[in-house]
Amino acid sequence: MTQYTRATFDQVLIQNYTPADFIPVRGKGSTVWDQDGKDYIDFTSGVAVNSLGHCPDEVVEVLKRQGETLWHSSNWFTSEPALELASKLIELTFAERVMFANSGAEANEAALKLARRYAVDHFGYQKSKIISFKQSFHGRTLFTVSVGGQPKYSDGFGPKPADIVHVPFNDLDAVKAVIDDHTCAVIIEPIQGESGVLPATQAFLQGLRQLCDQYQALLIFDEVQTGIGRSGEFFAYMHYGVVPDILTSAKALANGFPISAMLTSDKISKSFSPGVHGTTFGGNPLACAVAVKVVDIISQPHFLQQVQQRSKQLIEALEKINQKAKLFTTVRGLGLLIGAELAAEYQDKAAELRNKANQFGVMLLVAGPNVLRFAPSLNISNEEFALGIQRFEQMVDSLA
Ligand SMILES: Cc1ncc(COP(=O)(O)O)c(C=O)c1O
Repeated sequence: MTQYTRATFDQVLIQNYTPADFIPVRGKGSTVWDQDGKDYIDFTSGVAVNSLGHCPDEVVEVLKRQGETLWHSSNWFTSEPALELASKLIELTFAERVMFANSGAEANEAALKLARRYAVDHFGYQKSKIISFKQSFHGRTLFTVSVGGQPKYSDGFGPKPADIVHVPFNDLDAVKAVIDDHTCAVIIEPIQGESGVLPATQAFLQGLRQLCDQYQALLIFDEVQTGIGRSGEFFAYMHYGVVPDILTSAKALANGFPISAMLTSDKISKSFSPGVHGTTFGGNPLACAVAVKVVDIISQPHFLQQVQQRSKQLIEALEKINQKAKLFTTVRGLGLLIGAELAAEYQDKAAELRNKANQFGVMLLVAGPNVLRFAPSLNISNEEFALGIQRFEQMVDSLA
């Protein structure tokens, strides 16, 4: 049998990623094993995706059951799992209508198209401006990289969709300077994830809500990373008490089985009349059945309380390690989406530290060149958590 190794990656896959030098082959809970049988404590959750850990029994059971029942029927037919999932998301949130897709980028693409179409339907073609934030990340389609605030992802692909404005995050005056009657939407991550785990302030989100109301623009919350319990509430907007017009969710929605959702009001949803938007796989019965189970578990109040407790433990543990190591200047975030900003001495070393952590048997994420990002599964066991922290501390000690 052919032995595939990390070197095979460099031969057969398009080189748009630079994966770690080991290959995970198995996972259970928050532990992952590589080809050599070495174990790692996973503080990444596959970038905030495997929120119930790897291969959780209850979810695997549903996956198997639905896998033997009905996987895919196309959107020419609806399905019981899709109806159940949409009903649950409506019950749990501000939303009255749901549309499913397959990835965060697709949910955001749908949200942006819906905002544009709603503006055309109600106000005319001149209302097309989209306000977004510098450093924001909304996915990799041409529309979503153009709306995202990182030129390194949007430049070099020819003409971009027009009428998109980027202003600094958490700066309400900057928004006031550009918002007007031609604005159709403001899109924001309540916590900027990829660019450094930066939470929006309460006043900023409240201010955006007021400005959107004033100018009849739609407020879109991209909760692809912050949603499904990651922030310690089911969605991060619940922390802030600021309700968006459209919300997007993906990543953890089915614990790694691809699915995303766009949530909105009945009135706004009407701009997606039959045929206006669609997807082949979005909302297939298999993905929706898995997501129903995930949503049922994570939305339990006691589950979310445990996330908040674990969040405190994680922040305390990192701060304790930092007392002697002076590795970070700040540790910030909400729930189990925590960013630790590196001190001047370690500038641009986030990726190097992440790779070193792998050697010590703990998997970490970065968020930009200067932030280590910790996003463990929301149900990580006490033993795995303690072991992961111990291994991280050993890595930090080795730097001295
Ligand atoms: C806030 C946010 N939006 C959108 C996306 C894109 O999601 P996907 O990679 O599933 O398209 C991500 C992915 O990291 C994200 O963090």
